[in-house]
Amino acid sequence: MDYVKITPTTIKSETMANKADLIVGIQWGDEGKGKIVDLLAQQYDFVARYQGGHNAGHTIVLGGKKYALHIIPSGVLNPKAINIIGNGTVICPDAFIEEAAQFGDLSGRLFISKNAHLILGCHIALDQAKEARLGEKKIGTTGRGIGTAYADKVARVGVRVGDLADREGVIEAILSRYEQLCQIAPPKAEIASAVARWAEKLLAFAADTTQMLWKALDEGKKILLEGAQGTLLDLDHGAYPFVTSSNTIAAGACSGAGLAPKEIGRVIGITKAYCTRVGNGPFATEQENSIGDRLREKGEEFGTSTGRARRCGWFDAPLAKFACRLNGADELALMKLDVFDGFEKIQACVDYADGEPVYKTFAGWDKVAKARSFGDLPKAAQNYVAAIEELVGVKITLISTGADRNDTIYR
Ligand code: GDP
Ligand code: IMO
Ligand code: MG
Repeated sequence: MDYVKITPTTIKSETMANKADLIVGIQWGDEGKGKIVDLLAQQYDFVARYQGGHNAGHTIVLGGKKYALHIIPSGVLNPKAINIIGNGTVICPDAFIEEAAQFGDLSGRLFISKNAHLILGCHIALDQAKEARLGEKKIGTTGRGIGTAYADKVARVGVRVGDLADREGVIEAILSRYEQLCQIAPPKAEIASAVARWAEKLLAFAADTTQMLWKALDEGKKILLEGAQGTLLDLDHGAYPFVTSSNTIAAGACSGAGLAPKEIGRVIGITKAYCTRVGNGPFATEQENSIGDRLREKGEEFGTSTGRARRCGWFDAPLAKFACRLNGADELALMKLDVFDGFEKIQACVDYADGEPVYKTFAGWDKVAKARSFGDLPKAAQNYVAAIEELVGVKITLISTGADRNDTIYR
């Protein structure tokens, strides 16, 4: 029989193959992905978004100034990183133009996949109308047209960034989407002027980003993939229908950026030391009481995109374990440990019995805020970190003790 011979050279090329690293939210989003991507971007040549749209709100705090990024990758504050908005994303052109304006000239530092789909006004109107119709049963979307734009993509009637090159064709396509989704379309002249604006501002960045990423990998460049939302909002693996409309998990990066599964390297899961969720859907460890209020206040848990109050509750270890398995997380970053400062006791869900969370209680601590080494943490905080690590079964390699880049402990 003919076997492929494994020689030292094939082993070498396999283990040395350049791979892209990935940041993924382990909970329901807002874990602090923006802070970590910004921090790590200093070591990467490329930062690429692979799914979602401007439903995301990734915050970076740099020298006391706060930046909220929605569709532009969180590598943008690092002058050396090239930022990619991948084919798996959905882009609202006017929101993109407004967001990009605050960063000055991005040419050569930002590229948008020609295959990424556009979020049109009719998608936004329909998203909001659907939610209004659902009333109490609404999903609690960001109202940004995410689900309706992805629905058009899947139905093969969507409009892509690259389509803007054919002005007449794209105007007709957009008119048709309005007529079908909203029964009424804006005047053609209005669409034509929007298309002219979008073409001017977006086509300058349009590229075959898959080829760009392949070339980067082949040349040994370092790529960081930036997930949006979180694992528990994944279209397939979250609590449907209380999910977003894309695959937020690590696997989504393959289709959403054009990389092969074997080209994904380190998978870094981002989790808060507690849980939050915006919008509706199951949240077993939610604390609709003074504990939840305290977490919201101390953690400033209000949406980066919509300003909505986030629902707050204790850490859920079984869900985190599930999320780490789905993503193949190699390591975890534990965020916002400082929010527990001053708590007398802290709880974490360690198991479920008859569908109800089983909690373990931990001693609280005075202060971890701004701590920059593990040894500086109070013993109780060290114990909490070690317990989470053990419960989830994934090493915690980074602990965040404040919003600033520098309030970070590496282990
Ligand atoms: P993302 O969507 O995952 O990027 O997270 P968001 O930016 O929506 O929400 C995280 C919030 O927590 C932001 O306001 C961050 O500035 C802030 N933040 C990040 N890490 C820490 C931390 O360790 N401690 C505190 N107190 N705030 C943090
Ligand atoms: P980042 O990237 C938290 C939630 C919405 C809603 C559900 C569906 O900042 O972590 P959608 O508008 O996507 O159709 O809404 O998903 N959601 C997020 N929650 N963080 C996000 O992004 C989110 N993006 C969407 O609140 O429950
Ligand atoms: Mg966010």
